[in-house]
Amino acid sequence: MSADRKIAIALPVTGEEEWAALKDPLESGWLTQGPKVAAFEKTFAARHDVAHALATTSCTTALHLALATLGIGPGDEVIVPAFTWVSTANVVLYCGATPVFADVDPATFNLDVEDALRRVTSRTKAVIPVHLFGLCADIDALRTALPDHVRIVEDAACAAGAAYKGRPAGGLGDFACFSFHPRKSITTGEGGMLTTNDPALAEKAEKLRNHGASVSEEVRHNGPRPYLLPDFNLLGFNYRMTDLQGAVGLVQLGKLDDFIAARARAAAAYRDALSGLNWLRCPDEPMDGQHAWQAFVTYVDPDGAPLARNDIMERLEARGIATRPGTHAVHMLGYYRERFGLNPDDYPGARDCDRHSMAIPLHNRMTNDDYAYVIDNLLGLQT
Ligand SMILES: Cc1ncc(COP(=O)(O)O)c(C=O)c1O
Repeated sequence: MSADRKIAIALPVTGEEEWAALKDPLESGWLTQGPKVAAFEKTFAARHDVAHALATTSCTTALHLALATLGIGPGDEVIVPAFTWVSTANVVLYCGATPVFADVDPATFNLDVEDALRRVTSRTKAVIPVHLFGLCADIDALRTALPDHVRIVEDAACAAGAAYKGRPAGGLGDFACFSFHPRKSITTGEGGMLTTNDPALAEKAEKLRNHGASVSEEVRHNGPRPYLLPDFNLLGFNYRMTDLQGAVGLVQLGKLDDFIAARARAAAAYRDALSGLNWLRCPDEPMDGQHAWQAFVTYVDPDGAPLARNDIMERLEARGIATRPGTHAVHMLGYYRERFGLNPDDYPGARDCDRHSMAIPLHNRMTNDDYAYVIDNLLGLQT
């Protein structure tokens, strides 16, 4: 049976204001990183209570930029959770360093801090805790137990607007990296943001983002000496965001708190309505923080569920309800399996999350009626 109704797993909310914001850069002709990106960065930094914010082309490039700025290279190890989007680990390889996987706790989907600490060696240069689906990882437990020289880079791809013990994501480690991919709560199409409280790291990252140039395009272009090209003393990249994206990002950022509030209400309604399904574990709101609700990812208990997870997903798909696995276990992906000789059972927590996590629709274009329809269909599986 195919349903008339279609509920997407995620949908961005963009409209007239985003259209209007594009007018300025399109008319001025300044399309690459410029005043709109600068305004977006400033507002983003203020919202996340962090001193420096640098817009990038994606969260992946922000993560690469963070590791490159920290000087991570061949011979170094970086600890990453085994259940995360593949790019958290890929960026370590981009630097010629070795990703060392640590397991995750299926109760939160986040890094198992004790397992991560067991994997620290004299070569460990950094840990990338991921605030998966918008829930902050336990950064204090990590920071307290890690040797001082080991840096923390927050993978905050899903965590714009999240908070940990009252402190916003973005300034909890040495660097943080955000994503504005359309599956995140605010979007610039593709796009990312690198944040830090360290002025020296920010200065170096800014140069590396722009090919390693000693002065920015904007300063050079508007400067009084037309004959001057910048010097390039570092091997950098072009990870600059366009001003078109910056303009859209600024509008989206203005809506972030309303988006999160609406998602939190929907998450509470899901939790309430589904609490009777003892085979479906719903994510909790943290006691002392703010979940950013990038996604509502459940865990299907294989022992109690009326059907296997994949059958549940197919059943819901047939009724017009999109679902997805939360994300993947990177150690089970072909490239990592083959290159590092990894087996699914090496990280049982990540393996189980890969097999049993199930994101159900949660986004700012859903109506109360849509939520009720998803709930009815989940409750209906029981019978
Ligand atoms: C945890 C995590 N890290 C990194 C990324 C990469 O973000 P981007 O697509 O902006 O490169 C994602 C995107 O889904 C993610 O979920």
